[in-house]
Amino acid sequence: MQKIIAANWKMYKTRAEARETAAALARHLKEKQPEGRQVIVYPPFTAIAEVAAALEGVTCAAAGGQDVYPAAEGAFTGEISPRMLQDAGASWVLTGHSERRHVLLESDELVGRKTAFALAQGLSVMLCIGETLAERESGQLRAVLQRQLQAGLAEIAPADVARLAVAYEPVWAIGTGKVAGPQEAGEAHAIARELLREIIGAAGESTPLLYGGSVKPGNAAGLLALDNVDGLLVGGASLDADSFAQIIFA
Ligand code: 13P
Repeated sequence: MQKIIAANWKMYKTRAEARETAAALARHLKEKQPEGRQVIVYPPFTAIAEVAAALEGVTCAAAGGQDVYPAAEGAFTGEISPRMLQDAGASWVLTGHSERRHVLLESDELVGRKTAFALAQGLSVMLCIGETLAERESGQLRAVLQRQLQAGLAEIAPADVARLAVAYEPVWAIGTGKVAGPQEAGEAHAIARELLREIIGAAGESTPLLYGGSVKPGNAAGLLALDNVDGLLVGGASLDADSFAQIIFA
């Protein structure tokens, strides 16, 4: 089955830096076409057009936005619409990234509106979910994933499910160097798969389920081998084209 390998560049890289990294990545992908891999790069908004241009002609690769606002246009200072993302060359968008939830205090309900609206506007959406260390340690893993998935998918139209992916990123593993072990990741992915089936029915069986949190070239193959891990969402190790390419080809 095809695996999705995604790069989240967060608030890193100017346009020139993004162009350089995306061009180096495009060279890797043209030189050695990865079999069974779909690659997505989420640069900052200002660099989406540069990245989309650098990846043009690389059929397995696409660009995406890191966030989106759930309205076509309007008085929403600082926000960006699905159409603006598409105009810049994005076909994907992240919703509910843990940094949006925990640093920018986005609610589950807002994440749900973003997810449904972006899908309805034709974008493919990668909805991010994941528990904090305190939530995991107090036995709330399942409850947290259930709440985030239920709210995140509350308004999506059945016809749009084919363009949905879910990324499980335990908050305690993001940028900390602590990767979830096979047991922890395997357990969470099994729960997420079961919840997806409950919430969206049979289609939830084939919704790509990605793992994210301290993914590196050295642990990528092991994570991809786990049941219900259909891809990886990579932060720090995706900023360098060579290291991200090693993960893609893992
Ligand atoms: P790191 O790979 O840097 O831990 O970040 C993970 C992440 O948040 C990707 O969205």
